[in-house]
Amino acid sequence: MRILLSGSSGVIGRHLVELIEADAALSLSGAADREHFFDDSADGDVLIDFSHPELTRRSLEFAARRKIPAVIGTTGLDEACLRAIEQAANRIPVCVAANFSLGVNLLLALAARTAASLGPEYEIEISEIHHRRKLDAPSGTALALGQAVAKARGLDLDGVRVDDRSRHRAPRQPGEIGFQAIRGGDVAGEHTVYFLADGERLELTHRATDRRIFARGALLAAEKLVGRPPGRVDFASLVLDGF
Ligand SMILES: NC(=O)c1ccc[n+]([C@@H]2O[C@H](COP(=O)([O-])OP(=O)(O)OC[C@H]3O[C@@H](n4cnc5c(N)ncnc54)[C@H](OP(=O)(O)O)[C@@H]3O)[C@@H](O)[C@H]2O)c1
Repeated sequence: MRILLSGSSGVIGRHLVELIEADAALSLSGAADREHFFDDSADGDVLIDFSHPELTRRSLEFAARRKIPAVIGTTGLDEACLRAIEQAANRIPVCVAANFSLGVNLLLALAARTAASLGPEYEIEISEIHHRRKLDAPSGTALALGQAVAKARGLDLDGVRVDDRSRHRAPRQPGEIGFQAIRGGDVAGEHTVYFLADGERLELTHRATDRRIFARGALLAAEKLVGRPPGRVDFASLVLDGF
């Protein structure tokens, strides 16, 4: 499989380069970062992007023009990127995931099931910890968890989301879903969904200890995406067989 890599100079990009070099079935057929974009002649079986929304948008437009399936891992995507994803999905298969770890995708499914099984008296809060360099907060994964549990309870996340309790001097309102983001050190990524009731508390936690899991998950997604028809493809449905 020939891979075009967008964000090749980044942390995840470099892990991808290592994994590609270590696997005889994979090759790097082009690379882009802040300074360099793909050559017009660059070709590949799939494009993988872990970069910055600005580069993600350009890479998606490139992939759509060249009819190359795209795996998008960049988070904090802006409106222009989201539009580019929808437009690209008319021409190519696109897999966008805020988190390419298998464990996190299982957590998403477990959290949704738990939110649906436990009544609203089990109040939901979500916390996440990431390394000091991370730009967006709450993390894309925390928001994806919020969306999954809100949907499971028939709620619209935007209507119940609370990011900053210091602004309101008020007790917790029914149905609220609160987010806390902690930044520091070299934490690869930690997410906990709390279900808090009177007398008991359930916590579902995932801890990433090595950021290579994201690169491995993206490569798995890439393998499964090649040959599919155009459209959005959900990472969990690609890899969590039968859950
Ligand atoms: N979905 C997942 O599973 C997952 C997992 C981990 C990270 N992520 C996300 O993936 C993205 C990259 O993470 P990372 O830790 O690898 O970040 P990073 O080390 O900061 O690398 C970012 C990459 O994007 C390029 N870039 C940065 N700003 C740019 C700009 N304004 N225009 C064009 N290119 C730009 C950088 O190029 P230069 O080196 O030339 O600056 C570099 O190649 C982030 O959005 C992160 O949140 C997703």
